[in-house]
This record gives sequence, structure tokens and C-alpha cells, in this order.
Amino acid sequence: MLLDDPLKSDGRLPIYSPFESRRSRSKSRNLRNRTYCLRRRPTNPLILVILLGLLLFTTFHFLSEGRLLSRRGSYDAESLNLKVYDLAKSPANANGGDRVLLCIPLRDAANHLPLLFSHLRNLTYPHSLLDLSFLVSDSKDRTRELLDELLLELQMDGDPYMHYNSVEIFEKDFGQLVGQGFSDRHGFAAQGPRRKLMAKARNWLLTSALKPEHSWVYWRDADIERSPVTIIEDLMKHDKDVIVPNVWRPLPEALGGEQPYDLNSWQESEAALRLAKELPEDAVIVEGYAEYATWRPHLAYSRDANGNVDEVLDLDGVGGVSILVKAKVFRAGAHFPGFAFLNHAETEGFGKMSRSLKFTVAGLPHYVIWHIFEPSEDDQKVLKEKEEEAKAKEKEKAKSMEVGHEASKDVPSVNRMEASRK
Ligand SMILES: *[C@@H]1O[C@H](CO)[C@@H](O)[C@H](O)[C@H]1NC(C)=O
Repeated sequence: MLLDDPLKSDGRLPIYSPFESRRSRSKSRNLRNRTYCLRRRPTNPLILVILLGLLLFTTFHFLSEGRLLSRRGSYDAESLNLKVYDLAKSPANANGGDRVLLCIPLRDAANHLPLLFSHLRNLTYPHSLLDLSFLVSDSKDRTRELLDELLLELQMDGDPYMHYNSVEIFEKDFGQLVGQGFSDRHGFAAQGPRRKLMAKARNWLLTSALKPEHSWVYWRDADIERSPVTIIEDLMKHDKDVIVPNVWRPLPEALGGEQPYDLNSWQESEAALRLAKELPEDAVIVEGYAEYATWRPHLAYSRDANGNVDEVLDLDGVGGVSILVKAKVFRAGAHFPGFAFLNHAETEGFGKMSRSLKFTVAGLPHYVIWHIFEPSEDDQKVLKEKEEEAKAKEKEKAKSMEVGHEASKDVPSVNRMEASRK
């Protein structure tokens, strides 16, 4: 016990002796001081009272906390600003359907906002189950002002069905490494740094917006021209952890009428794996550039205009134009790497990461949404050349047709001509 004098037990008393060395003298004085303390502390009733008080306080603290969590309703949660979530329960049936978080990154997007809102209004998925989350970054145009106007219109619409469950706007600049023009954005050298920056932006938006009640996250770009109004349901019904539609863009007829747009949705190839082995760990492979010949099967090129829209293709990388993701994928730790993850960044890295976490990643080759056509300067040049080429060809064809016509009345070939002109 503390009350025992420890020095008594070995029978030595710390008696000062003038013959002791200075060092041993100070040692014995220290010992005496310590003995003094040891003997005095427990005898002070004040200390005992404080200790008892502390014990009582902590006991009551734990008891009251336990009661708060176990007997809900017996306290006023609002005044405590307390929210309790049972994350073991699926949030799915809470409100008669799965809650979906819509994440929409915006950057100098004023030109596309009216189109985006037209799509939002048309979505058939119950708006009361949808939470809108915008990230406005690095914008010099009227994106923010117009967003406010269009949101006000949407949320005050006379038709209550139009109203989304909630809307959030996050503003943060990430710095623009490159211009927002088509040629700037799509040049090879700009791709790696650009993708890493976009990845960061996506992660900021996601981590700010995702709530426990969300079962799905739907990522959507603002510059989509045509998309089925049932897209959320259409993607959802396949029950994949990560799923994307095919993304094409319409082209002027002289350029062929249409073209695969999103080349970031692909299946891994042997050639790309070999390429990755040769590259430094921090190199980012970007798809669709001659500099990196990956020979991967692309979702975009797997399209058959008459193919079954429900056909599913397993993927490794995904593009970010329109992705439906189960929220549990993010909760398991997948995100958009703003660094080289297995030599990929952003959405392609996200696809790879999701696969690494054993989630299903898929695409719909024959289910197409259409990106807007924004011609680059090169596009415009090519467009002019092709237009002239096409005109010349048309003339030649017309000539040979006349000749062919005279030889035999080949009806199918005439039909083909008409079809290609459409
Ligand atoms: C939304 O639906 C309306 C009415 O059907 C249609 O006119 C409009 O083009 C649709 N918007 C988009 C972006 O497809």
C-alpha cells in the first residue's frame, strides 16, 4: 500500500551523513523527498474526492451516451444536432426506391447548360430520389449565374414532379493546365496532367456530396446532345457495380455522319500490359493516341447500329461521360486516381481500380448516347477538304451510275446510293 514507507521495508533509513559523497547525499535526499510525497498524497482527502468525482462523471457520461444511442426518441435529436445512421441497413427501400446522387462537373459550361437542364427535366427516374450535385470550377463564362437561373426554374416548376430531392453546388478552382478549346484539351501532351487534375475535381465533388442514403452515383457530363430519358433505369437494370453506355458523336455528313467519341472505355490487351511494363511507374497511358499503341478492344468500336441494346461487355477502363456506379464501390475505397494507378488516371484508373477491388465493370456496346459535335480547327480543315472530295466523288458516282444504269437496271445499288446520302 501507498501508506507503507517503502524505505522501512528494506530497513534503511535515509539519514544524512557528513561522510557521504555529494552524489550519494543528493541521492538520499531525493529518496527522502519521494518518500515524503508517497506518504502524503493518499492522506489528502481532496485528491480522493476529485478521483471519486472523475469516476462518477465518466460513468454517467458513458451511461447517458449509451442511452442516447439505444433509446432513440427519448431525446431531442434536433437540439443535439445528432444524426444516427444504421449503415448495416441498405438505404435502398428508405424512400420507395434507390436514392441516386447525380454528380455533374462543370467548367466553362454555360453554352451547354440549357441542354443539360433539358435532359435533367426529361429523366424518367423519379426526381424525388435524385440529388443533384454540381462542381463549378475554373469558369470564366456565365456558368455559375446561368446554373442558378436554371436551378431556380427547375426547383420552382409548377409541376412538382420536376423538383429534384436536393441540389448542391460546390465551387472550387483547380487551375487550368490547358485551355478548354477542343484542340487544347485533346492534344496528346496535355492528356496525363489534364486527366490527373480532372480526377482531383471528381474526388472533391464525390467526397463532398456522397451521403449515407445514396445507393448509386451517376456521373454525367454537361455536353451530351442526345440521351435516352430512361438512361438511369436502363443502366441500373444490369446490376453492375460500374456501367457505361457507348458514347458516339454525330458528324457532318461529309465526315461520315457519326463517329465513336469516348475511347476511354476499353478491355485490357496484352499489348497494353506489355507497354505498361516498359513505362515508368508514374507514366499515364491515355487511350486513343498513336503515341501509345495499346490495341485494346474499345467499347465505342464494338457498336452495331442494329445490335441488342441490352448486350453487355466486360470492361477494364471506363470513360467519364456517363457512368453509373454503385455507391458501395466508392465506399470500398475506389476513386478517380489523380496519380498513375497501374499506369492510368481518372476514369480509366477508376475502372482499373474497381476491377482490382473485384467489382464488375461493364459497358453497353449497342446502347448509345450522343456527345455534341464541337469541331476543332483541324476538324474544320478536314471538313472542308472532305466536303470537296465528297462533291467530286458524288459527281463521279453520278457519271458511273449513268453508265451502269444503261448497262443494267441495278435497283439495289441505287437504293444503296440513297441510303448513303441520308
Ligand atoms: C426533352 O423532351 C422534350 C419533349 O419531348 C424534347 O422536346 C426535348 O428535346 C428533350 N430534351 C432533350 C435534351 O432531349
